[in-house]
Amino acid sequence: MSKKLFIKTWGCQMNVYDSARMADVLAPLGYTPSDEPDGADMVILNTCHIREKAAEKVFSELGRLRHMKDEKARQGDRMVLAVAGCVAQAEGEEIVARAPFVDIVFGPQTYHTLPEMVAKAHRAAGAVLNTDFPAESKFDHLPEDSGGQGVSAFLAVQEGCDKFCTFCVVPYTRGAEFSRPAFQVLAEAKRMIANGTREINLLGQNVNAYHGEAADGSTWSLARLIRELAEIDGLARIRYTTSHPRDLQDDLIRAHAEVPQLMPYLHLPVQAGSDRILAAMNRKHTADHYRAIVDKLRTANPDLALSGDFIVGFPGESDADFAETLRLVNDVTYAQAYSFKYSPRPGTPASTEARQVPEEVKSERLAALQQLLDAQQAAFNAGFVGRTVPVLFDRPGKRPGQLMGRSPHMQSVYVQASERLVGTIADVRIEAAYANSLAGTVETGVYVSRTGHSAGVSA
Ligand code: SAH
Ligand code: SF4
Ligand code: F3S
Repeated sequence: MSKKLFIKTWGCQMNVYDSARMADVLAPLGYTPSDEPDGADMVILNTCHIREKAAEKVFSELGRLRHMKDEKARQGDRMVLAVAGCVAQAEGEEIVARAPFVDIVFGPQTYHTLPEMVAKAHRAAGAVLNTDFPAESKFDHLPEDSGGQGVSAFLAVQEGCDKFCTFCVVPYTRGAEFSRPAFQVLAEAKRMIANGTREINLLGQNVNAYHGEAADGSTWSLARLIRELAEIDGLARIRYTTSHPRDLQDDLIRAHAEVPQLMPYLHLPVQAGSDRILAAMNRKHTADHYRAIVDKLRTANPDLALSGDFIVGFPGESDADFAETLRLVNDVTYAQAYSFKYSPRPGTPASTEARQVPEEVKSERLAALQQLLDAQQAAFNAGFVGRTVPVLFDRPGKRPGQLMGRSPHMQSVYVQASERLVGTIADVRIEAAYANSLAGTVETGVYVSRTGHSAGVSA
């Protein structure tokens, strides 16, 4: 009998990946993914703890779900309610205390045991809490990837972080840095490609720190892994995220010059432009070190577009420090970026710093930074109008007859075209640029189909 499973995901791409794997783990128990929580037999909230608001959203969502769970109980049925992810890891006990109607609370490293946890929840009263960091990796126990992610898919290769930036919860919620064996990654990639995946985005909290064991016992770097993946027939595009500037080695920079499948887009967070603040953040690099890496990358591949993360209002950040962030952004020029107000996180060193920056100052700085980043992004996108770019179509758009895909530089591209182009790469002539996307027309001509054969196309 099919049971309805609803998973709501917050946070980073690793959480998106984890949610897909949770569905894989629950599939043999008869759970089928559903798009809404109404009437679901199981609801999982896969949570993020990175900033304050992220955790608050979980508790308000739980309030709503409680009513649905009660409604289901009135009908003599049961909704199993679970909280997963980084809030669960950091605040498991608090969730159990504040929301006693929650059945299961588990962290990012234990979801392979979901079948046991569900069985326990059905047997016993009270919440099942599992926030261990097991000695054995969950990846050795997960079922094969179902290939359900589609044309563009995530593949976790590395997890956890040993960097301990003073603002960040990730080392506490995800645990120590761990690289999956390279042979495991290659086998999973091959299965995904056989199931129709054309683009793989290699994931890790510090993905470029990857050092995985190969079949012959040697250790592969991320660059080596990318080169081996590029040898697999049918894989058109490779990306990786997120990288730390400290671990960006020369062999990875060379891969950007030499591996055609490696897309010319890199998310390389810097956080701030002032060396004083970077040191207080324990980032282990200076602003000039970052500039030098960017120069090397652009020498290797002049077409490379950069994306970044920024935090404004870190404790002790002065106007002069913030001006250094703006200067760095002006020097580097980003195609796209994420920026945040510093949010004090419980248990992190920076949260107890005396010189917290007032909220108004954070807001002003964020507005100034975002204005600059938005202008850079708009200019980057505008530069594509009139150009032809290869687009990998991965889904239908919102409007009828519309298709959506990604450019090599990660821009969303909209066209009017037949749905049979999903899964293919076609040349698109860009006619308009917007803040977050491009629009164009598929050029009639030769395109590479899902099977790798060339064929004519008329959109
Ligand atoms: N290396 C990680 C970073 C995860 S956190 C990765 O794989 O993505 C993503 C971003 O959130 C960070 O780069 C940082 O800019 C931001 N961030 C983390 N902790 C924060 C905090 N306490 N306040 C505001 N922003 C934060
Ligand atoms: Fe957090 Fe820093 Fe690790 Fe990124 S490198 S996950 S920001 S501690
Ligand atoms: Fe959030 Fe955890 Fe990812 S805190 S950003 S879901 S690693």
